[in-house]
Amino acid sequence: MGAYSKPVVLRRTLLSAAANLAVAAISRSTAARASPAQEHRLTVRAGAASLVGKSRPQTSVWTYDGSIPGPLVRVRQGESVRIVVHNKLDQDTTVHWHGIRLPIAMDGVPGISQPPIRPGQSFTYAFTPPDAGTFWYHPHANSLEQLGRGLAGAVIVEEPEPPRVDRELVWMVMDWRLGADAQIAPGFGNRMEAAMAGRIGNTVTINGVIPGDEYVRAGERVRIRLINATLARIMALRFEGHRPTVVAVDGQPCEPHEPADGRLLLGPAMRSDIVLDLQGEPGHRYAVIDDFYEGLEYTLTQLAYDTMAPARSPHVGQTARLPHNPLPDPDLPSAEPRELVLQGGMMGGMGSMRGMGRATWAINGMSMTGDGHAGMPPLAILRTGRSYVLKIRNDTAWWHPMHLHGHSFRVLRRNGETVPNSVWSDTVLLAPKDVVDVAFVADNPGDWMLHCHVTDHQTAGLMAVLRID
Ligand code: C2O
Ligand code: CU
Ligand code: CU
Repeated sequence: MGAYSKPVVLRRTLLSAAANLAVAAISRSTAARASPAQEHRLTVRAGAASLVGKSRPQTSVWTYDGSIPGPLVRVRQGESVRIVVHNKLDQDTTVHWHGIRLPIAMDGVPGISQPPIRPGQSFTYAFTPPDAGTFWYHPHANSLEQLGRGLAGAVIVEEPEPPRVDRELVWMVMDWRLGADAQIAPGFGNRMEAAMAGRIGNTVTINGVIPGDEYVRAGERVRIRLINATLARIMALRFEGHRPTVVAVDGQPCEPHEPADGRLLLGPAMRSDIVLDLQGEPGHRYAVIDDFYEGLEYTLTQLAYDTMAPARSPHVGQTARLPHNPLPDPDLPSAEPRELVLQGGMMGGMGSMRGMGRATWAINGMSMTGDGHAGMPPLAILRTGRSYVLKIRNDTAWWHPMHLHGHSFRVLRRNGETVPNSVWSDTVLLAPKDVVDVAFVADNPGDWMLHCHVTDHQTAGLMAVLRID
């Protein structure tokens, strides 16, 4: 496992000779440890973190191994990994490996794929990630509170031949609702919020701290792995003075492209790998701005250029393309259509909520609440090996990042228009009234959750099970 704050140096062009030696030594020892069945241990426990700076009080949080975010799990594509999770919370938990195509028994949904990990108990997750990419892990038990109190970490599955960049950064974004005392505000599961945009916080962190400047050097090429690990916050990032190239979406490689209008949209649970050529002026600062919510735009961080003369990176200007992952291509002519209609929520601002009993949201009139539990009837039964096109129709006035476990799907069309750049995802963001077609091969048998990743929406009914038989 690794750290987030230390950038991972992949090429030595920009380092001093002494640093080169140190890095070489570290990477050799990492390689030596990366034998088949790497074993990691993760302890889930309460802790404290300096989210808002060393001069302010620490925040009481729930952690993996005492750190926010949890340890970075770094594995190689196609190599097996074992992670022993020990629960020291006083409530049940599980770990879900978001976006990784793994067997159902390792999916971390309590009551469906495994019994919950009771306080004091352990569970061993063992799987072999087939795809390289940027993934993450989080609980699937009491999700709203456990994720909201800090339980999340990144998983990087390395390509055998990573694309050539000078440095790699991981930006794990989390969002907190803190009081003046820097403590997490109570009120998880507020019904009004659940019927609207969900629990959006007032403090955004990158890798567990309110971001200061990101120090860069002119002339470098960096890869940034962005992970939105918030409960509910949608982000639209603009890189002032820069032109990011998206090379992967939700861990899966795509045609390298610039985001539409230069705004990188990232809903909860979504990831984006970007390649950034740092062509700014030495000594200058450039803001990275999130302007998703009208009137609430803020500067997430700043790219702060060193005053050194530009580096002459050999990688800048090359096409940055990631190697393909072994995804099964859906057979579109024979694919069976299925329709999923997202329903509920507060109608147009102050309107009334639809009468749906305890649940606020539904898919095709069915509401599964909480985190997934035994006895949930499946919304649809799919046949192993067949291709399906899911038409997801957002009949609500709200945004929803819709996530399917155990598979990645090809995003075909949005509102009837072809989605360019061969985008595969595990979480697709729907604007109000959007209709999105996605296609996939149901090649992984099991009962798989399909839910909105705005956690309040999930737990208030925007969730279903797809059974693959
Ligand atoms: Cu990150 Cu059920 O999902
Ligand atoms: Cu998932
Ligand atoms: Cu939603």
